[in-house]
Amino acid sequence: MDKYAVIGNPIEHSKSPEIHRAFAEQTGEPVEYGRILGNMDDFPADVRRFVAEGGLGLNVTVPFKEEAWRLADELSPRAHTAGAVNTLSLLENNQIQGDNTDGAGLVRDLTVNHGFRLEGKRLLMLGAGGAVRGVIRPLLEQRPKRIIVANRTASKAYSLANGAAAYGQVAGCGLDELEGMQFDLIINGTAAGLAGEVPLIPDTVLAKGGWCYDMLYGNQATAFQAWGYQQRAARSLDGLGMLVEQAAESFRLWRGILPETAPVIAMLRH
Ligand code: ATR
Repeated sequence: MDKYAVIGNPIEHSKSPEIHRAFAEQTGEPVEYGRILGNMDDFPADVRRFVAEGGLGLNVTVPFKEEAWRLADELSPRAHTAGAVNTLSLLENNQIQGDNTDGAGLVRDLTVNHGFRLEGKRLLMLGAGGAVRGVIRPLLEQRPKRIIVANRTASKAYSLANGAAAYGQVAGCGLDELEGMQFDLIINGTAAGLAGEVPLIPDTVLAKGGWCYDMLYGNQATAFQAWGYQQRAARSLDGLGMLVEQAAESFRLWRGILPETAPVIAMLRH
């Protein structure tokens, strides 16, 4: 069996092992996938140990994505821009390659699973932390009309937008500067939902027929999804599909096969 794992801290609630085991079963690939509670003080030692034990790839989750970015010997262009790595792969020359599949996962969930065409659309991205930085370039590559990155701390939105400006039309602002603007899709990439809160934005920003998407997910509707329903969004989605799609893209990097995601998303919903 070929060895893979997810590393994070905490890690016990990660759904990645369940997802990757389902992919392995579906594709017949000889993949064994575990979970590692990362040491907060020595993440590189955990990675070295895993590789020494024959590990071929790791998914990296909170709070190690930036450390994984620094540790990788090589970075894919999308990981380079993201400033964070969620997938490490051992190459044949024993170098460690870092990639970031979060943005591809989000784009695939929106476009393939839900049929939302991003091209020409007005997008509002809420938040300016690692979660948003990780997905901004793949979103811009879909050629939306424009992405406004709005954050409670406006300065972080400006600098994130500046860093991504080479890839498309993007600008930053504060949450309190959205009055008068309208969007076809609002994506929540803030951590507000972890406290059951929603970012404070005017209730006029969602265009008629617009969609809402929360990068968080849960057993019930997330706080931002509920906000979307109140705003009469045409669709208000959570991030479970993104989770499974980013995993599928990691599996493809490691095994060269893109697994079918629909049955795995359905399994996790139930
Ligand atoms: P992550 O790496 O998960 O994105 P982060 O870097 O800590 O985490 O960023 C969290 C994001 O959620 C930030 O954009 C933060 O806004 P600030 O930069 O102003 O702190 C945002 N956030 C957290 N709680 C929020 C709340 N209650 N309302 C609005 N935004 C919130």
